[in-house]
Amino acid sequence: MEKIPTDIYQCIDNELYNDKKNQWWHDDSPLFVLWCSFNPTRINYLRKTLHKENSIDPQGKIALDIGCGGGFLSEELARMGFSVTGIDPSVQSIQTAINHSLANGLQIEYLLGTGEALPCPDSSIDFVFCCDVLEHVRDLPKVISEISRVLKPGGIFFWDTINRTFLSKLIAINILQDWKLWAVAPTNLHVWEMFIKPRELRSLLEVNNLAWRDHIGLMPNIAFPAVLGYLRKKVKGELSFKEFGQKVWMVESKITNIMYMGVAIKQP
Ligand SMILES: C[S@@+](CC[C@H](N)C(=O)[O-])C[C@H]1O[C@@H](n2cnc3c(N)ncnc32)[C@H](O)[C@@H]1O
Repeated sequence: MEKIPTDIYQCIDNELYNDKKNQWWHDDSPLFVLWCSFNPTRINYLRKTLHKENSIDPQGKIALDIGCGGGFLSEELARMGFSVTGIDPSVQSIQTAINHSLANGLQIEYLLGTGEALPCPDSSIDFVFCCDVLEHVRDLPKVISEISRVLKPGGIFFWDTINRTFLSKLIAINILQDWKLWAVAPTNLHVWEMFIKPRELRSLLEVNNLAWRDHIGLMPNIAFPAVLGYLRKKVKGELSFKEFGQKVWMVESKITNIMYMGVAIKQP
């Protein structure tokens, strides 16, 4: 895979994370869905991974959360015992993350930065997390090479991202962003051309000395017509994003056509 061409990259709205109206921790922020509908599934998969990898104890392990946003994942990792640094290019998001962690008595280091230039020494990190971020970056090959550079040998890279398929275009772009009947996501939150096929990610990982260990699909917990029903209620203002997330969330699946999550191990 190559760096995203300028004409495609300028279509994604990565500025929306600096918009004060998209407050991460607000019950009716579209970003809050990441906390309700994605985080529990990520953490569950992480716990299973830790168990499978010789029952790794997260206590004191150094974790880097790339594209941490308002700190949803960083906070859960800190509660599990990881020593967490979150980085993000969005000033507003980093400020939100700092304020929220302080208010909740959590010790997390938050830094401004991008996945393309990680502010970490070589071989210094035990776990790198990059969740719902790879499909937002301009230079994916550079991000993956940076992840490999900062991971210790045997360190674990954990991601989730969106596949580039007909189905992901229908759901993530047409239904969630474009078609007014159901569109609840901010316009240009995602750009279909920036989605990543598993085989593309796999070959990038391999050339960067990261061995693909496992991956699974992510699908909604309920059938699509029911999801459409709740999206419609959200559009009509009958639900908050928090209430929506309490009804619709992602579960592990064999189907990887929409989203997938996985882990890779840094080779010695
Ligand atoms: C959909 S949010 C995901 C936030 C968080 N990982 C979560 O799941 O709660 C995407 C995040 O990626 C960040 N981002 C965009 N471009 C980035 C880059 N080049 N490097 C690192 N983060 C980036 C955005 O600022 C935003 O906070």
